[in-house]
Amino acid sequence: MPSGFTTRPPFEQAPADLRAAIEAAVGSRIAGTESIHGGMSPGPAALLTLRDGRQVFAKAVAASMSSESHLLYLRELETLRVLPPTVPRAPLVAGVEHDGWVVVVTEAADGPALGPPWRSQDVATVADAIATSAALVDLPTLAPAIARMSDLDGWRTLADEHPDRLDDWERARINGLVEISDGWRTWTAGRHLVHLDVRRENAVPHGDAVWLVDWASACHGAGWIDTASLAVDVLASGHAGGHQVSLSVAQGLLAQLPYEATRFVVAVAGMLRCSSFLPAWPVLPTVRDRQGHRALMLRPLVERLVSR
Ligand SMILES: Nc1ncnc2c1ncn2[C@@H]1O[C@H](COP(=O)(O)OP(=O)(O)OP(=O)(O)O)[C@@H](O)[C@H]1O
Ligand SMILES: [Mg+2]
Repeated sequence: MPSGFTTRPPFEQAPADLRAAIEAAVGSRIAGTESIHGGMSPGPAALLTLRDGRQVFAKAVAASMSSESHLLYLRELETLRVLPPTVPRAPLVAGVEHDGWVVVVTEAADGPALGPPWRSQDVATVADAIATSAALVDLPTLAPAIARMSDLDGWRTLADEHPDRLDDWERARINGLVEISDGWRTWTAGRHLVHLDVRRENAVPHGDAVWLVDWASACHGAGWIDTASLAVDVLASGHAGGHQVSLSVAQGLLAQLPYEATRFVVAVAGMLRCSSFLPAWPVLPTVRDRQGHRALMLRPLVERLVSR
């Protein structure tokens, strides 16, 4: 399991009546399960082989495990029901709500999630998938980006409320970091379909393309948000070619985007850094360390963006 991730219970531990409800919804008995580990949700996820020969992916969570994850899975079901078939996503097979649980069942992709680390070919394939999805505008029922995004005022919060937490590098640049991040509620707005959680864990190879999975945060916003998030993840998760390559790949992605995408990367770094100081979250005990680590991984890129 990659560091910074939570421990998911094996799918076999799901209650028998939940399993029966899944079987009823998909119209076949479950013949085999292959649990998937990693991720940041506390419920089980697995590839299920069905008696009728199909293979599906299922992830389940009970409200008693995490009310946040439960809400996210319900939202994801809503989104998967409205995404047109042209969007590179795992098609929805069934949504199950049973005894406080919610289960998302989709078609299974051919391969496991990409990496780590990123490879240039994978970056290109994911960038293509994003381009297809971001080309869609005005989908019904999606919330605006500001309703789904984390608070990106991290640099301002650190500057105003916790200047002692800034290290020397940050203190020397804090005015620029705040200024570049300001106004994100306005400049992230737009009509385009935004996945909003593009990370290598949420891109699974299928055929010669990829499916974006985990649509719980989908919204409408600026058309560059997902590509900028890809740049962030290439740098934060690492590239097979090493750090200099991940830096130039991330810069190459940003070079094709409007200046707001650069502002977004700087603001995301501030959000991660600020969040890393928040109290531990029992549902996800590793998340604060992961946020701090990702903020540091972004620093060389932020340095270039701030001083350009
Ligand atoms: N359709 C699919 N086919 C194969 N594997 C999948 C599929 N969908 C998701 N996965 C794998 O399962 C993992 C967890 O799925 P997903 O991200 O949708 O769940 P989640 O509970 O929202 O997880 P997280 O907390 O990591 O965001 C993914 O990282 C991916 O590796
Ligand atoms: Mg995920």
